[in-house]
Amino acid sequence: MGFSSSTLAVPEAPGTPRHIAIVMDGNGRWATRRKLPRVAGHARGLDAVRNTVEACMRRGVEYLTLFAFSSENWRRPGEEVSFLMKLFISALEREIGKLSANGIRLHVVGALEAFEPRIQQLVREAELRTQDNHRLTLTIAANYGGRWDILQAARKLAAQRALQGPEALAAPFEEADLAPHLSMAYAPEPDLFIRTGGEQRISNFLLWQLAYTELYFTDKFWPDFDAATLDLAIAEFQQRERRFGRTSAQVKGSSGHLA
Ligand code: IPE
Ligand code: IPE
Ligand code: MG
Repeated sequence: MGFSSSTLAVPEAPGTPRHIAIVMDGNGRWATRRKLPRVAGHARGLDAVRNTVEACMRRGVEYLTLFAFSSENWRRPGEEVSFLMKLFISALEREIGKLSANGIRLHVVGALEAFEPRIQQLVREAELRTQDNHRLTLTIAANYGGRWDILQAARKLAAQRALQGPEALAAPFEEADLAPHLSMAYAPEPDLFIRTGGEQRISNFLLWQLAYTELYFTDKFWPDFDAATLDLAIAEFQQRERRFGRTSAQVKGSSGHLA
């Protein structure tokens, strides 16, 4: 990232989503259209990641969550999976210094134990090195699945209750009991979900956390995603009325503090 830190203290514009979550889709088709191997699209996708992180910082977005590799993506050809792993390693090695210098805190969520030890070690180092940064929290979802997340949270809650004894284990489980065990408990739920590449589906991304997120789909392939496309998504988000189950009149009549 070539942006200087002096330009980063931009105050958040009214209506800017605090948390944007993106399914970065269409890398393969971007490459195929150019008669390139699919993996060339993944390499270009990394450039779009850099641009998007920078654009979000400039706009005062506090949390950016990117779906990089789903629980289901292991089903792809071995060469493509191994290219993605190499790309992940080189991105972790090369970008962490810049992320850190720009005040970005990195989190990686997903079943990381499935990755090779080198990746797990780089992730641990990167998270540790950036843990005190506060400008933007960048989360990379890798070997992530929304169902996995809910299941691992339920297992942790059950294990915690079991330690507390049989009475705690028999006590009812509420939403508020499970939520702290979800892998992104450190972040507010996404305000805006963006999926590039033209498909209109969630593909097992943040299932619990997207309950009231505004959804935005664009036909642009991920390598072509840029600040202008991000602004279109944010502009559309700003037109939406978030009612959270209430009526429009109730929302308009409130001072913006809905309980
Ligand atoms: C998204 O692009 C990247 C990953 C899922 C890793 P795709 O690789 O899914 O690209 P398309 O959808 O085949 O074009
Ligand atoms: C979703 O994209 C996962 C990521 C972007 C990492 P896919 O390309 O894997 O989604 P499906 O299989 O078409 O739903
Ligand atoms: Mg795809």
